[in-house]
Amino acid sequence: MSVLEGKHILLGVTGSIAAYKAADIASKLTQAGAEVDVVLTEHARRFITEVTFRAITRRPVLTDLFDEPEERQIAHIHLAKRADVLLIAPATANVLAKLAVGIADDLLTTLALATQAKMVIAPAMNTAMWQHPATQHNVKVLEGRGATFVYPAEGMLACGDVGAGKLADTSTILATVEAVLNPPLRGVRLLVTAGPTEEPIDAVRHISNPSSGKMGYAIAEEAARQGARVTLVTGPTLLEPPAGVRVIRVRTAQEMLNACLQVYDEVDVVIATAAVSDYRPAEVWQGKRKKGEEEWTIRLVPNPDILHTLGERKGKHVLVGFAAETQELLHNAQAKLREKNLDMIVANDVSQEGSGFRSDTNRVTFLWADGRQESLPLMTKREVAHRLLDAVRELVLPSG
Ligand code: PMT
Repeated sequence: MSVLEGKHILLGVTGSIAAYKAADIASKLTQAGAEVDVVLTEHARRFITEVTFRAITRRPVLTDLFDEPEERQIAHIHLAKRADVLLIAPATANVLAKLAVGIADDLLTTLALATQAKMVIAPAMNTAMWQHPATQHNVKVLEGRGATFVYPAEGMLACGDVGAGKLADTSTILATVEAVLNPPLRGVRLLVTAGPTEEPIDAVRHISNPSSGKMGYAIAEEAARQGARVTLVTGPTLLEPPAGVRVIRVRTAQEMLNACLQVYDEVDVVIATAAVSDYRPAEVWQGKRKKGEEEWTIRLVPNPDILHTLGERKGKHVLVGFAAETQELLHNAQAKLREKNLDMIVANDVSQEGSGFRSDTNRVTFLWADGRQESLPLMTKREVAHRLLDAVRELVLPSG
C-alpha cells in the first residue's frame, strides 16, 4: 500500500508556466490514493483552470479565501487542520517571499500560515530569479522553519535561458512527499561531528584549521529532515545550528572526545566530519604571552584520535569517517577506513578547487569496508549529505 493512501494533500499551484505540470502531480497523487485539494492562486488561473483539477481530483478546487464550499465550515481553517502535507508546486519567487515573511493575502498563503502540516515546496522560475540572493535567503528561512524543498532542475527554461529553474520531475516531487510522510531515517539515532577544534596556546592564540562546519551541518540538517534523531557535536563555527538537532558545543579535541563518549551509547550511527587537530601544545600559557625578540618554540603532543577510540568500542555502531587528503586520496582513505574500524569513509580531496574546507561544494569518493567504492562529481555539500545518508540508510536498515 502506498504511503499516500488516505492521506490528505493540499496542492498549492502558483503562477508559473510550469503550472500545467501540477495537473500531472495531482493526477499521480490521486491515483496513489491521496485525497487532493487543489488551491489555485489568482496568477495560476492565468495558466490553468480549476476545471482541469476538478476533473482529476473529483473534488472542489479552491481559489478564493472567501469560498465556503461546505456549510458551517471556514474553508481555510478546515483544510489547514485536515492536511497531512501542503505541497506547493510550482512555487514562484513571489510566493516564497510571502511565505518567508508570513504574508497571508490570498487563500494559499493564508493556509500556509494556518496549517501545522509538513510543507513541501517545488520552485520553478527563471534562473536569475532562483539565484537571486533574496530568493536564496527566503529558501533558507523556510528550510530553517522545517519546509522541505524539491530543488529546481537545470535545463532549457520557457524564457529561452538555460540554467536552474525547471520544476523538478513529478516522480521526484512525489518521492519527496512520500519521504516527508514516512521519513526514511525515522528511529535512527545519529551523532555527527563537525567543524574544527581549537587547541589553545595561550589566552588569545590557538592551533586550528579552516573547517567551517558546512559539511557536517549539512549532514545534520538533512538527517533531521529525514527523521533521524541527531546530536551534533561541533567545534567553533559561525553557522546557525540546524532546526531540531541537539547541539553540543566543544572547543578542543579532548572536549570533542568526551562529548562523543558521553552520547555514544545513545546513538546507532556516527558520521565524523570534524577536522580534529591531531596535535595540541604540551603547555598552555596562563594569560596572553607578551611579544618579545626571542624565538618561541611550542612543543606539540598528539591529541586522542576520536574516531579510532569509537572504532575500538564499535559494538553494533555504524561508523562513517571522512578523510581529508591532499595526495594519494584513495590509498590514504582506505588505510584510515581499516585502522579506525569503519564501515565507510568519505575520501575528500581538499586540494581541489571548490572541494573540501569552507566551500559550499565538495567532490568526494565513498569507500566501503567491503571494498565497494563510488566517486561522485562536484556537487553541493547538501547533495553530498543526501547521497551519504542514502548509503548510511542501507548500512543501518539493509532491507529498507
Ligand atoms: O567544515 P567544512 O569547511 O565544510 O570542510 C569539510 C571538511 C573538509 C572538514 C570535511 O569534508 C572533511 O574532509 N573532514 C575530515 C577532516 C579530517 O580531519 O580528516 P582526517 O583525514 O584528518 O581524519 C580522518 C577521520 O578521523 C575524520 O573522520 C576525522 O573526524 C577523524 N579524526 C581525525 C583526527 C582525530 N584526532 N580524531 C578523529 O576523530
